[in-house]
Amino acid sequence: MAVVTKGKDQIFAYSLAKYSQRLVQSDTPNSGNAFSRWVGKMLLINSERHAASIEPGTTLLSVLRDQIGLKGAKEACGRGECGACTVLIDDVPVMSCITLASRVKGEVTTVEGLAEEFRDLREAFADYGGFQCGFCTSGQLVRATALLRAGLPADRQKAEEIIRYEMSGNICRCTGYNGIVEAIWATAEARRLNVAT
Ligand code: FES
Ligand code: FES
Repeated sequence: MAVVTKGKDQIFAYSLAKYSQRLVQSDTPNSGNAFSRWVGKMLLINSERHAASIEPGTTLLSVLRDQIGLKGAKEACGRGECGACTVLIDDVPVMSCITLASRVKGEVTTVEGLAEEFRDLREAFADYGGFQCGFCTSGQLVRATALLRAGLPADRQKAEEIIRYEMSGNICRCTGYNGIVEAIWATAEARRLNVAT
């Protein structure tokens, strides 16, 4: 068995302390340290490229809100149950609070990126009482935009069934949902007939 001298013990303890210190220092974004858990990633968001610093558990929502400064997607439940954080990835609605930023491959579109496209939908939400406190509204608008892009049948009853089903993942504690359904239906109908809501 090797005999460890006091001098070697001191050298080992010093090395361990320096190593631990480097690990602690590395636990910050962009530290550039070889031990860092943070890595850089380019994300395409609303047609612009953004650099993000992510670690294994970083969510898309936290990147959008805390790093890019896009506050439209809201954090409510934080566990994929309410839809307040809904964004599109390549036109598919996803809940960004449970989407790992490291897994994002396509283009992310937030409510800010849809402002022009859903001007009529936003006005219909106002006209038909589709929001009150507004906390859920950005998520509702994003998911409704995806639904309108996909198209709805001209038959109102069938269309409303589809709207209620497709929007069921977006919780609203204020409106009772009828105003939201009517706003989406009215927008679809107006677009179909090419008239203003
Ligand atoms: S905050 Fe993401 S689903 Fe509720
Ligand atoms: S408008 Fe208040 S939660 Fe939907």
